[in-house]
Amino acid sequence: MGIRFAGWGVGLGERVVTNDDLSTSLDTSDEWISERTGIRERRIGGSASELGIVAARAALADAGINAEDIDLVLLSTTTGDRLIPGTAPTIAAALGIKCGALDLNAACSGFMYGVAVARGMIATGSRRVLLIGAENLTRWVDWDDRATAVLFGDGAGAVVIEASDDDAVLSLNLGADGTLADLIRCDHGGYIWMDGREVFRRAVRVVVDSSERALAEAGITIDQVDLLLAHQANLRILHAVADRLGLPHEKIVVSLDKYGNTSSASIPLAVDQARNNHQLETGKIALMTGFGGGMTWASAVVRWS
Ligand code: ACO
Repeated sequence: MGIRFAGWGVGLGERVVTNDDLSTSLDTSDEWISERTGIRERRIGGSASELGIVAARAALADAGINAEDIDLVLLSTTTGDRLIPGTAPTIAAALGIKCGALDLNAACSGFMYGVAVARGMIATGSRRVLLIGAENLTRWVDWDDRATAVLFGDGAGAVVIEASDDDAVLSLNLGADGTLADLIRCDHGGYIWMDGREVFRRAVRVVVDSSERALAEAGITIDQVDLLLAHQANLRILHAVADRLGLPHEKIVVSLDKYGNTSSASIPLAVDQARNNHQLETGKIALMTGFGGGMTWASAVVRWS
């Protein structure tokens, strides 16, 4: 038994904050932020549950199904509404359902980890999983720290994953190296901190390795890949990865310019943009890859259906 993506939806923070807006209160500039990151603006506002509910409703409508048809609500988030309990039950309750509901945290790789978990649930008998990536990262940002404040945004994306005879996922691998846990951290009561340069260096390496493994396991060459749907942290990371893989930059989906780094939400937000631009027609091959705190990473080759 395989899976297919049956419907997608997004939810975005209400307030658009541009680089120029940030440079009124921080020693930074649109030029620095755009050149070093590719980010031009970000959305701010909304809790993980508020944003997740909007995305979830849109995904259910796009799939043309009722909430009662869902067997599991799986929420990838690093910024749930509270420490205890998880936020997935809150989202399920807003949808009026009492199926299983749980949070998972694999930082910015969480959405791809969620695809893996959903696929496993479907392999063992679930019919449909509602996977949501929702983040309210700006709550954990130190607005006086220009090194991190310019990077993050709030948002959510959701997908209905359902059982299918043909598996859209041709290969998928997950990885983690907990010895690198200190590279990106947010301790209880603290702010997000990261060693940006080291994360950059490590991210390029692990994304290239896991992408090459996913391609080899799928029996797909880089020339056959139509789109790169990667975690949106930094445009220079996306370019470095594409260059090392031998993928032309035109095949990279870039949505970080509008949303910044939205962690678990960034891949579904990129998918939404690609779908709106008619870049993800049936049969297209997408390389999907996430990386982030942990360190964690995850890559998959997907044939769009
Ligand atoms: N505006 C102006 N100057 C700045 C800013 C800013 N917003 N931020 C830093 N600088 C300065 C620094 O102080 C430094 O100045 P100095 O040379 O006088 O000391 C200079 O710019 C260079 O700083 P670096 O940190 O070396 O800049 P770099 O080119 O590495 O860019 C960045 C920083 C954008 C954070 C980059 O390293 C990056 O994107 N790293 C990866 C982050 C990432 O991928 N995170 C993903 C996971 S996030 C998660 O899991 C939640």
